[in-house]
Amino acid sequence: MIEVRSARWPGDLAAVAAMDRSFVTDRRYCVVRGDLSFHLALETVDPPLHKRYDLDLSERQSWDCALVAEQGGGPIGFAAARYAEWNRRVIIDHLYVAPYARGAGVGRVLLSALDSFAHSRGARCLWLETQNVNYPAIQFYRRAGFTLCGFDDSLYDPQLLGPEETALFFSRAVPWRGDE
Ligand SMILES: CC(C)(COP(=O)(O)OP(=O)(O)OC[C@H]1O[C@@H](n2cnc3c(N)ncnc32)[C@H](O)[C@@H]1OP(=O)(O)O)[C@@H](O)C(=O)NCCC(=O)NCCS
Repeated sequence: MIEVRSARWPGDLAAVAAMDRSFVTDRRYCVVRGDLSFHLALETVDPPLHKRYDLDLSERQSWDCALVAEQGGGPIGFAAARYAEWNRRVIIDHLYVAPYARGAGVGRVLLSALDSFAHSRGARCLWLETQNVNYPAIQFYRRAGFTLCGFDDSLYDPQLLGPEETALFFSRAVPWRGDE
């Protein structure tokens, strides 16, 4: 049984910080640019790419929603989001599931809890940034109904991230709950 609750600080700090936020992929999307267009082409990565996301928990004051997924009393997932009032958009800053718990619906349950948060704020959509190399997350978000809404190939400093990394943006409407 997967349970999702609000994060409790400082009690959850150590467990959330310790969560393995990495992924491995043997596929990635290559961003092919046209003059006024772009498309994503799937390509294999050999050897597989390993990437780990940083999580600066000192930024937690900026989150309007921080969620911990638990199973059997231990944290197995984490999500954090902000609500942007000016465009009524929920920005998903973080979403991670511990590697041993992936593929069992934990990410989907966390997304559903983010939908509830978005709904409570009157948001119209959820939005997130990921990278062309994060093939697993892109499949996860597409499966959840997110669609590609943009890219930015100047966002990342190639001295800090791999030069092949490009920011991709995805969004999805907040599901209608039928209680309005
Ligand atoms: C992306 C991530 C959060 C997904 O969490 P998860 O708990 O494994 O996902 P779920 O089990 O809830 O999967 C939900 C759906 O997405 C699909 N999905 C999940 N991972 C997938 C993958 N690697 N490839 C294809 N589909 C995938 C599942 O098949 C499932 O589909 P269904 O609706 O048909 O059942 C998790 O893999 C993760 O933490 N990755 C590392 C951190 C990361 O990349 N975070 C996102 C940063 S932008």
